[in-house]
Amino acid sequence: MLGAPGAGKGTQAALLAERLGMPHVASGDLFRDHIKRGTDLGKKVKKFMDAGALVPDDVTIAMVSDRLTQPDSKEGVILDGFPRTRAQAEALDKMLAKKGGSVAAALYIDVDREELIKRLSGRWVCSEQSDHVYHEVAKPPKTAGICDIDGAPLIQRDDDKAETIRARMEKQLPPMFEVVDHYADRGVLNTVEGDKPMDAVTIALLHCVNAPAVSRSSKPAA
Ligand code: AP5
Ligand code: MG
Repeated sequence: MLGAPGAGKGTQAALLAERLGMPHVASGDLFRDHIKRGTDLGKKVKKFMDAGALVPDDVTIAMVSDRLTQPDSKEGVILDGFPRTRAQAEALDKMLAKKGGSVAAALYIDVDREELIKRLSGRWVCSEQSDHVYHEVAKPPKTAGICDIDGAPLIQRDDDKAETIRARMEKQLPPMFEVVDHYADRGVLNTVEGDKPMDAVTIALLHCVNAPAVSRSSKPAA
């Protein structure tokens, strides 16, 4: 899942993971979990995230590579936010080739910069699970300030401050476009218009991975 900060990668990856029965592996969520647990890795990466910069490739690749050795990853995963440099994309290709696999589809969610700012500044996330994501206008929780899923308080992410949002765009978009080119060159890039409502984006993404838009368990309309 590729896209600028705020494009909707986390929102859509969680839905796709549920629909396709695959784990949602988000590099940003893995880093935030390390920071929360106070691990050495968490201490190392916090300054990069606070500055809106990318975490160095060697650290990021090692963390994701380790996650992909977990048994639940055997049949595939939805990667969110990784790779986001050409070096990471090449490392992922090698990692997967060793297991006899490859990137089946690179899904690029394309969103206008003005819309990205609105999304990030109105975002609230669960304090327990950072992949429970809300927006004060587009996806408000049922009870203000409380996560619908686990009842934990909602918080704003540290890197959603205006000046950090600007830094994330400036520092992270150029390498992301190199990753987009990497997958275009390999013929697996799918670009989806991300300015649409969430449901429409989900349907477009499911179409890209040849999955039915309606879950098998849902009843046909009367
Ligand atoms: P990460 O957590 O990956 O942040 P990001 O890429 O900046 O992306 P976001 O999580 O902010 O946005 P999103 O695309 O997931 O959007 P969301 O679904 O939440 O990374 C954080 C940091 O970790 C990085 O800055 C970097 O320091 C480090 N890092 C992570 N991975 C790294 C890597 N590979 N290499 C190096 N460093 C790395 O949606 C946003 C909002 O919009 C929500 O409020 C949502 O409700 C709303 N929304 C979603 N879709 C729609 C829609 N269709 N219409 C209206 N609103 C919508
Ligand atoms: Mg995210």
